[in-house]
Order: sequence, then C-alpha cells, then structure tokens
Amino acid sequence: MSAAKKNRRIVSGMRPTGRLHMGHYHGVLENWLRLQEDNDCYFFVADWHALTTNYADTKGIQDNITEMVIDWLSVGIDPARSVIFRQSGIKEHAELFVLLSMITPVSWLERNPTYKEQMVELKDKEIHTHGFLGYPVLQTADIIIYEAGAVPVGIDQAPHIELAREIVRRFNFLYGDTFPEPETLMTASPKMLGTDGRKMSKSYDNSVYLSDLPEVVDKKIRTMVTDTARQRKTDAGNPDICPVFITMHTLYSDEETKNWVREGCTKALIGCIECKKRVIPKVLERLEPFGKRRRELEKDKGAITEMLAENTDKARLVAQKTMKRVRRAMGLA
Ligand code: TRP
Ligand code: SF4
Repeated sequence: MSAAKKNRRIVSGMRPTGRLHMGHYHGVLENWLRLQEDNDCYFFVADWHALTTNYADTKGIQDNITEMVIDWLSVGIDPARSVIFRQSGIKEHAELFVLLSMITPVSWLERNPTYKEQMVELKDKEIHTHGFLGYPVLQTADIIIYEAGAVPVGIDQAPHIELAREIVRRFNFLYGDTFPEPETLMTASPKMLGTDGRKMSKSYDNSVYLSDLPEVVDKKIRTMVTDTARQRKTDAGNPDICPVFITMHTLYSDEETKNWVREGCTKALIGCIECKKRVIPKVLERLEPFGKRRRELEKDKGAITEMLAENTDKARLVAQKTMKRVRRAMGLA
C-alpha cells in the first residue's frame, strides 16, 4: 500500500446556506481544490454554526446541506481524497466546545471583530445569545479536535483562527501540551461582485450560482451593472470601477482581451453588451462541467447522505481519539 504522502492536516468548514455562487467558488472552493491535491483535508458542513444566526428558522437546513455538498462535489471536492462530513454528526465537537468554554474569558469573545460587526449588521435579529458569542469557541473545537496544522480561511475569519490559537495556548498552559496551534492559511480571495455591483452575496439577491443554467448566467451577466457613469456607448468608461471588468474579465479573460476592453471602454469604442459578450462564453465554459456533474449527483441524493454519513464516521474516530487525550489531560479520565 503506497498512499501518496500528505503534507499536513487541513480543516475547514462552511455554514450550509444552500446553493453556492461564484464568490464561494473563487473565494473558497478553488483553495480547497488546490489543498486537496497534497494534504490530508477535512472539509465539513458547519450546521451548528448556521444556527447561531438562523436558529429561528430551521426548516431549510437539510436541503441546504445537500445542495451545498452537491456543489462541493460538482466542482471536484473528492470524498476519495478528503474527509467530507457534517459537524452535528460528531458530538465530540460539542463536548470539546463545553470544555473550552470553561477556559475562554468572555472578554476575548466580546472583542472579536466579527462579533462586534455582526451585532450592528444583524440588528433585526435577536443574536444576543450565548451561542452566538461562543461562535469562535465552537470553531476552535472544530479545528483542534482534528489537530489541524492549518486552516484556510478568508480575511474575515482570520480573527477566529487567532482566537483559536489563544485558546490552544491557554489550554496547553493549564493542562500540558495537548494541541498544536493551528496556522492561518490566508487565502487571497479575488473580489467577486454581484450583478448589482455590491459584494456577491445570497442575501443581496445578486449572485451567479454555480448551479444556474447557462441561459440564466447569460442573462445575469448581460444585465449586470457596469460603470454607472457610462450611460451610452459614446461615453468613455472606466474598467477599473466596472463590476463586469473587475469581476468577470479579470478572472476569465486573457491579456489580449483585457487590453481590448481597456482601450475600447476608455475610448468609447465598444459597447457594454459587446464587452460582456466577450467574457460570457468563458464563464459558461468554466461552469459547464459543474452543471453536468450536478445533474448526475442530483439523480441520487440518497448517495450524498450516505457519503456524508460514512465520512462522518471516519472523522469521528479521529475526534474520539483526541477527546480521550483531552479528558486525561484535564483529569476527567
Ligand atoms: N465560521 C466559518 C465561516 O463562516 C465556518 C467554520 C466553522 C469554520 N467552523 C470552522 C471554518 C472551522 C474553518 C474552520 O466561514
Ligand atoms: Fe464595463 Fe466593459 Fe462597459 Fe467598460 S465597456 S463599462 S468595462 S462593461
């Protein structure tokens, strides 16, 4: 048996928000795909974390999980190489969360920037909950229960990994060396703007989904906002502030095409539709194999549930082993 040597243990999770869009693909999944090549990857559905803000409406959660995992698999996240599982299937995460809660000062959590931001942003929701404040403690448990060497996250999540490291140091100081400090693998995520020019986000209803049919993608890009100062073809435009350029051409066009756009736009030689028509086929080409695989996977959703259950069993064995050491370190066993 000669399994390829794996560099290191990688752990990352995503909250199940349903179908994923191009922002998720370029911001997260492309990194996962790269890491999966030569690392021991654990990718999981953070369904408990989804409850921190959406506890009041849970009916969609099962479907959201299936749809998200179908997207993972359709872009090439591979259960033969990575362990793909569900957080709530492994109760050991909850046990470790409780134990870590005992040693984590509330002040560390209150000064967490994502907590402070969300408190302002989600002011319509009642999120003054214990669970929401403890979000990064659960996240820490998710990570260190697999003794992760590194966690790939976007910049918004970096403070959570920093907190995880602080919690690990405190644990190791109190009970002896038990956990390695996880490294933050900061993943440069390209700026993905939605059809309205704001950040692509499900809640803005401006997203191009990985599962959108080609005609839908075509229409979304055709109607995407451009440099808003450019009212007609005779107005010169500025690609550097145009969402179509920033997002689509930058990621999908070759240098020649980009130069054609820069020149044509700034000198008012091309129209926006013409400009969009150059990039739409490239986007469709990229999305096409995802759609194909998705349609296959959709035929047997039971197989997805089964795959998740099998992988959850695999991950649980690792988590159980860690918890034995943790209980011993703390004098609980
Ligand atoms: N908080 C992460 C997010 O919203 C999801 C998450 C939960 C996570 N647990 C994790 C990410 C552990 C990395 C590692 O994106
Ligand atoms: Fe944007 Fe292209 Fe229109 Fe210029 S020509 S404003 S880059 S869509």
